[in-house]
Amino acid sequence: MSAHGQAAGGKLGGQKLGSQKLDGKTLVRFKEVQKSYDGETLVVKRLNLDIQQGEFLTLLGPSGSGKTTTLMMLAGFETPTHGEIELNGSSITHMPPEKRNIGMVFQNYALFPHMTVAENLAFPLEVRKYNKADIQARIRKSLEMVRLDAFANRRPGQLSGGQQQRVALARALVFEPELVLMDEPLGALDKQLREHMQIEIRHLHQDLGITVVYVTHDQSEALTMSDRIAVFNDGIIHQLASPAELYERPSNAFVAQFIGENNRLHGKVAELNGHGCTVELSAGFNVQALPVNVDGQGSPVTLSLRPERLKLDPQDGSMPNLFNGEVVELIYLGDHTRVRVAACGADDLIVKVPNSEGVPAYRPGQPVRIGWRLEDCRALAS
Ligand SMILES: Nc1ncnc2c1ncn2[C@@H]1O[C@H](COP(=O)(O)OP(=O)(O)O)[C@@H](O)[C@H]1O
Ligand SMILES: [Mg+2]
Repeated sequence: MSAHGQAAGGKLGGQKLGSQKLDGKTLVRFKEVQKSYDGETLVVKRLNLDIQQGEFLTLLGPSGSGKTTTLMMLAGFETPTHGEIELNGSSITHMPPEKRNIGMVFQNYALFPHMTVAENLAFPLEVRKYNKADIQARIRKSLEMVRLDAFANRRPGQLSGGQQQRVALARALVFEPELVLMDEPLGALDKQLREHMQIEIRHLHQDLGITVVYVTHDQSEALTMSDRIAVFNDGIIHQLASPAELYERPSNAFVAQFIGENNRLHGKVAELNGHGCTVELSAGFNVQALPVNVDGQGSPVTLSLRPERLKLDPQDGSMPNLFNGEVVELIYLGDHTRVRVAACGADDLIVKVPNSEGVPAYRPGQPVRIGWRLEDCRALAS
């Protein structure tokens, strides 16, 4: 064993700690962290974030929202302009990267092209001064783990993109870090391989019991992989929640727009009552909605409606919101048809109609009624 005090049969030994066994211990804490590169604009603004040991946490947001900067500060390649970062309760704000016991995987693999796979994997171990026998054993184990045992003597240029990314993954895990950071690691792969690797990374996370902080701008990737997702925009976390929670209960218009598909209607709050509210649309229609964060009567709101929650020609009386409209366009997508409907002053309401019971016989120009439940229509301050 190395001088690093890791117990024999450690994480690479296949200990099953799956993410379902989170014990609520905080591994990483960002405290009031800010970052400015030019001394003027903050690209990360007042970041407070606790990451639980063993969880798979994703930073999701559009390009330029501060995800990579956040990851780089955690890895130690950037220093916060203000605030503290803690690992296991101790400040690491000024600790050099190689002392942090954090593995990293980047989008472009960042493998050394002139080294073999085995030499690439040896590198982080040599930097950390592991002995020769230990290095060989760890290389073997981690190549087995990503099923590349037969490729130890190849150079990266002799591997496919997917294999290179698996080597990068093995290299990040080879020194058994307790925390692994991944910055858009699958961005360069084609769709099929990307989806395969998503599942593979997810399994590795579960099998090894490590903590993963993952960065992506791809919401479906985030929904597939994560225990929790932090939705970033403009250097701020807009919501931090499980995938289902984010999808079902987005807390503001940005999150609703960014996660999943979403119809939007604009209006103002006409009345707040019990657990619902009446929103008067700009086009004059009254809609019953669920007030999520509204400032009160008269305040402007955006109504957020998922395409799969809109119903065409529902039974009379089954829904508090029911309007006359017209089919504009049909897009057949195999398992469902997207029906574009003009109603409520909008001409772009998308309704997802499942094809499980045969394709409904709608045609453009046909009058329809469109309805939805109060609780499927979220009123968000705009
Ligand atoms: N090294 C740098 N020097 C100056 N500005 C930077 C640097 N890295 C990133 N930025 C700026 O900081 C903002 C956030 O960037 P980044 O953290 O890379 O976002 P993301 O990973 O979400 O796309 C962007 O406006 C970007 O241009
Ligand atoms: Mg980035």
